[in-house]
Amino acid sequence: MTTALITGASSGLGAEFARQLAAQGHALVLVARDRSRLERFAVELRSRSGVDVEVLPADLTDADELAAVVGRVSDSARPVGILVNNAGIGLLHDFDRNPLEDEVRHLRLHVEATMSLCHAALRSMTERREGRIINVSSVAAFVPRGSYSAAKAWTLAFSRWANMHYKRDGVLVTALCPGFVHTEFHERMGMTTRFIPPFMWLRAERVVREGLLDNLRGKAVSIPSRRYKGIVVLSHIAPARLKQGPRRRPKG
Ligand SMILES: NC(=O)c1ccc[n+]([C@@H]2O[C@H](COP(=O)([O-])OP(=O)(O)OC[C@H]3O[C@@H](n4cnc5c(N)ncnc54)[C@H](OP(=O)(O)O)[C@@H]3O)[C@@H](O)[C@H]2O)c1
Repeated sequence: MTTALITGASSGLGAEFARQLAAQGHALVLVARDRSRLERFAVELRSRSGVDVEVLPADLTDADELAAVVGRVSDSARPVGILVNNAGIGLLHDFDRNPLEDEVRHLRLHVEATMSLCHAALRSMTERREGRIINVSSVAAFVPRGSYSAAKAWTLAFSRWANMHYKRDGVLVTALCPGFVHTEFHERMGMTTRFIPPFMWLRAERVVREGLLDNLRGKAVSIPSRRYKGIVVLSHIAPARLKQGPRRRPKG
């Protein structure tokens, strides 16, 4: 058993990664901004699974706070064997309608934080010749859906390469590409989900279970469910304008 560091561990997919990895006996480092929520969750995890749980509150779009998390990943006295880059947000409006600062924060969280933590993790994991990294991307990485797709496409392309390149050093890297999952993601964005048909929704438990298994199997890309595997195949042949899908619409 090793230590898993999970970003965005306070809710949704990140919290589910924490539950499943704790149930497997891994110690945890939980990262997100909301300290009290993380601490409450840590108490629950410790009592349910009996594993060590460390809480590391950080806003990953803040340079100093990201550096503290990078420092934790680089700490050779307390090695991190599994890194899950999961923290993420969506922006409701079209690219030109969002304030530039929001777009910059969005890019930092999805790309800069993921890149910085992968950099730190790969340095120590390759030295130890073992490690696992899961970067949470999205099926949006395969279709043109604004700056969200662009950021998730970075995660997908980077993970594909890194898995091929670092497997020989004992490190497995997987881009996890879910479709719609029941989490707080859309609510936080203020987006209505009324127009998303029920069959398009996945449960976090399944997404995380399949992502962890695919990572252990050494797969570079994990697309949970047959439905979404099919959608991704279709996305390679469908005309770009059909792939765009409907606009994100506000609630109410
Ligand atoms: N839900 C979906 O349909 C779906 C589909 C495909 C991919 N994804 C991806 O899945 C990942 C997890 O999202 P989710 O669906 O589980 O959403 P969620 O329930 O809203 O969870 C997001 C997590 O990220 C943390 N977070 C947000 N901003 C942060 C920041 N600046 N610094 C550190 N932590 C931050 C949040 O905690 P704090 O607010 O406490 O910081 C929370 O723990 C994201 O990368 C998302 O893009 C989601």
